[in-house]
Amino acid sequence: EMHQFIAPKATDIRAPCPGLNTLANHGYLPRNGRNVTVDMIVQGSLDGFNAGVDAILPFAKFGLLASNVASTVNLDELVLHGLIEHDASLSRVDAALGDPLHFSEQIFSTLAHSNPGVNYYNTTSAGHVQFARLADSLKKNPNVTNTPHEFKIRTRESAFYLSVMGEPLTGIAPKKFVNIFFRENRLPIQEGWKRPKTLITAATLGALQTVIVANSNWTASASCESPEVLGP
Ligand code: HEM
Ligand code: MG
Repeated sequence: EMHQFIAPKATDIRAPCPGLNTLANHGYLPRNGRNVTVDMIVQGSLDGFNAGVDAILPFAKFGLLASNVASTVNLDELVLHGLIEHDASLSRVDAALGDPLHFSEQIFSTLAHSNPGVNYYNTTSAGHVQFARLADSLKKNPNVTNTPHEFKIRTRESAFYLSVMGEPLTGIAPKKFVNIFFRENRLPIQEGWKRPKTLITAATLGALQTVIVANSNWTASASCESPEVLGP
């Protein structure tokens, strides 16, 4: 079957993004992770996750700036620090401290242990996780960048995992699905996941983000500026 899960081969390249990696592992994006176009990302996100153009197109276009060529990007190029890639990620180490590209179970354990006692994550737990991940980076990374720019991206990413693995209107997502999405970059179809029936839009994500923000107790770090990264 065309969209079955196939784990990446050693020569395939992947992103710091569980969403794009999952799409590539299911053949919604080139399985080798190379020469990816904006149109492929838009179509793949719609087909794979029911994520609409208005939610994906700005990110996809922005991602092209990480590339050395005009109209395609290799997924690993998206690790360019300060473009989209940021500190205090949910499943990757800060760039100044290690490998910001590949999954880290140690970093992911904060999310994995969140919302104890129930079998789902939600906008409340997602906000708490963002707070905890930032606190960890502030403690360990003297180089941490934490401005409204990074905070908005981080919050959008939290809304993304709740939406694609759960219900886009409520932001309730089964832990089992989210954990497989992050750890294996796989659609948990055999575990019962179904492509969201509700189209994920900038508006549905924005509504979830408002609640996540309210639960993340965020403040900008003093005297740190976001670098203006426009290319590699
Ligand atoms: C990170 C989901 C689309 C580029 C993330 C993260 C999530 C996510 C949950 C956070 C990972 C972490 O903190 O460890 C998704 C979903 C998408 C999507 C569900 C829908 C298809 C995109 C697009 C781009 C992109 C279109 C740009 C071409 C990135 C990058 C990161 C990232 C560069 C790394 C940020 C960091 O954690 O430092 N994504 N994403 N994503 N995403 Fe995506
Ligand atoms: Mg990061």
